[in-house]
Amino acid sequence: ADTVAINQSGHLEIGGVDSLKLVKQFGTPLIAYDVKQIKAKIKHFKQAFETAKVPFRVTYASKAFSALAMYRLVASQGLGCDVVSGGELYAALKGGMPAKMIEFHGNNKLPAELEMAVDAQIGCIVIDNFQEIDFLDEILTRKQTKIPVVLRVAPGIEAETHRYISTGQQNSKFGFDILSGQADQALQQLLANPRMKVRGVHCHIGSQIFAVNGFLMAADKMVELLKNWHDRFNFEAEILNLGGGFGTRYTNEDQPLPPEEFTTKIIQEVKKRIQAVKLPLPEIWIEPGRALAGEAATTLYTIGSRKDVEGVCHFLAVDGGMGDNIRPALYQAKYEAFLAAKPRALDEQVVTVVGKYCESGDVLVRDAALPNTHPGDILAIPSTGAYGYTMASNYNRNPRPAVVFCENGQAKLVIRRETYADMLNCDVVK
Ligand code: LLP
Repeated sequence: ADTVAINQSGHLEIGGVDSLKLVKQFGTPLIAYDVKQIKAKIKHFKQAFETAKVPFRVTYASKAFSALAMYRLVASQGLGCDVVSGGELYAALKGGMPAKMIEFHGNNKLPAELEMAVDAQIGCIVIDNFQEIDFLDEILTRKQTKIPVVLRVAPGIEAETHRYISTGQQNSKFGFDILSGQADQALQQLLANPRMKVRGVHCHIGSQIFAVNGFLMAADKMVELLKNWHDRFNFEAEILNLGGGFGTRYTNEDQPLPPEEFTTKIIQEVKKRIQAVKLPLPEIWIEPGRALAGEAATTLYTIGSRKDVEGVCHFLAVDGGMGDNIRPALYQAKYEAFLAAKPRALDEQVVTVVGKYCESGDVLVRDAALPNTHPGDILAIPSTGAYGYTMASNYNRNPRPAVVFCENGQAKLVIRRETYADMLNCDVVK
């Protein structure tokens, strides 16, 4: 807890609001965002491009946290967003994201989803596979309209991260394979289609990546591809989208480069390579999700029961768990925990922080070093702003938590706590 803000009462403070006050007002589990942190991250990404004086777009990967308030916030800061489903597209539009600033990803976009994107005339559809070209062509022909597209390729890069979130390797389910010639074939098909305007290329090598090297290798591969396509098909890309995946800090073990430094290295590599092959510099796009939302939120839980068997186990249970944060169970992700009332209190015990779900895998923090705790104490787990709420479930019919945005000492409820009745909304046999 050495990086957190602490107020005069010695309590954890989020966006200038006392965390214990938040809990009194909104209950637990509660996901509390520090809005200034999100704005600062956005600014740093943008600054890297502005300083380098290159054309760019930062598009927020909204799967990280897709609240309407988040779309509104990132749109107000001049960002676009990417969506990966009809549901995210619907939310982005409702959240005030201009249609032209939306790009649509996914390896199996449904015809109905593609039609929704065409009707909304979004900024671009990222073409992932041959089937999608056929679906989209049918829709565009029927509606006598056009849409800009970007072609996604798998660059054949193995990112150093968990295999579930690594996506750039040749056997990935995403994007056209380059080596087998399928990417060439896809480009030719798109270039021949008068209803799809190919604006550029896209790749994404994975998520929670700390080494900039993978991005540089991907950039090299992509520029090589652009050169090849320029020479063979006379194709000139307006956009080079290098995806997201910038690693963030969950615990002291994580030492990410600041976003502006990371981005600057990528920009320099692209510039260098593009100049070397004498192509005009395309717009460079990046798609950070976690890096914008992740570190900005802390989840607050109320401590309940515990179980101690000397020399065997020490479990400390809270009122949430795998329903609001599946990441430890799914990816063995590590988190820190501390008491909101005394974030820097001395560690007196090592416990396993577990949730209230009927499953042994329902663990939040494996080895949490904590001071003595009592039932009713508030436990804070930081860095829960990305892939927490969006991957939440109603398992065991536990309602999903409330979410607040905190800024300048003010807390605003952005997603209310789910009720038992909400959870029965889709049950038609009453
Ligand atoms: N662009 C594309 C095409 C992506 O597939 C993703 C993430 C991103 C951007 C954003 O990646 P980020 O900057 O957030 O790392 N649920 C997993 C992460 C899955 C990421 C999937 N794609 C987790 O909780 O770690």
